[in-house]
Amino acid sequence: MIRSIIVGTGSYSPAKILTNKDMESIIDTTDEWITQRTGIKQRHIVEDGETTADLGEKAARAALENAGLTTDDLDMIILATSTPNNTFPATSVDIQNRLGMHHGVAFDVQAVCSGFVFALTTADQYIKSGYAKRILVIGAETFSRLLDWEDRTTCVLFGDGAGAVIVEAGEGEGTSADRGILTSHLRSDGVHKDKLYVDGGPSTTGTTGKLRMQGKEVFRHAVGMITDVIEDAYKATGLTSDDLDWFIPHQANKRIIDASAKKLKIDPKKVVITVDRHGNTSAASIPLAICEAVKDGRVKKGDIILLEAMGGGFTWGSVLLRW
Ligand code: UT7
Repeated sequence: MIRSIIVGTGSYSPAKILTNKDMESIIDTTDEWITQRTGIKQRHIVEDGETTADLGEKAARAALENAGLTTDDLDMIILATSTPNNTFPATSVDIQNRLGMHHGVAFDVQAVCSGFVFALTTADQYIKSGYAKRILVIGAETFSRLLDWEDRTTCVLFGDGAGAVIVEAGEGEGTSADRGILTSHLRSDGVHKDKLYVDGGPSTTGTTGKLRMQGKEVFRHAVGMITDVIEDAYKATGLTSDDLDWFIPHQANKRIIDASAKKLKIDPKKVVITVDRHGNTSAASIPLAICEAVKDGRVKKGDIILLEAMGGGFTWGSVLLRW
């Protein structure tokens, strides 16, 4: 059977860093509060004029270089973002053009913090069906543009960045010994749409709007939803937490990550954490974390890796793969 194997990774974080100490001079907060409640110490923030397409393009170029490929080798680009450059066209099409790619197809996927898991799963379906052989999957966000910088309950949590992977069709036997994506599980339930949303849009206010969140409500649902889709992945493959080499979760809050790992009995040494340095970069957080763990040599060929995310909608999902 056809498997989708990750053959390249890349990332980009804006140069400008806002530390918790910097946040103390913007709003009524403390480094101690932010660290204790979230695990975040700093976040990267775009400069004026720096856009989601700029970040996505840089991550994409890094992933192509890492894989030793050019855009001639790609059939498709899928960008996960909730902070597009414009309402339309899709930011992926802009990135496609910047990369000098004028064949194939590019489109955006919108599932907020779960965006990368949704985009990677979409890529996997196109590859398994034979429609595409190689797909560039990007998560890129400029959440700083959506933040209400006077709302201390949200503006301390998010950051900007981009990460990208290239997935390629490979042969497998249909067992968990295969390399590539072994299983993925996506969920959504719009009953939760008002718990984490942006209060604007082209069809409502005609403005971009600002991010609004009932933080406690998100927290209350997060661990249960995350662990449900991970248990689905275990059921589908026969693998368990003991089989994992790395757990690379969406980086929203260290407390959510710790509680999920504890409930699933995942060894804390196997958990990749970047939230301390990046904050919550929404759809970019997982590919940023993957890229870091590949670069520093933690992730090796053959490793079993579990990805998960949960975000606005709510949307949530898991991907279990062998590197
Ligand atoms: O991908 C999903 C993205 N979203 C998330 O992951 C968010 C999930 N939720 C959370 O991570 C947590 O709910 C937060 C970190 C957002 C908040 O933590 P909490 O423990 O739920 O705090 P809280 O909202 O209950 O607020 C406790 C206190 C309040 O003061 P009072 O009413 O007790 O006097 C807040 O006003 O902390 C206050 N507070 C702050 N204090 C200092 C809220 N934000 C801040 C702040 N600095 N930045």
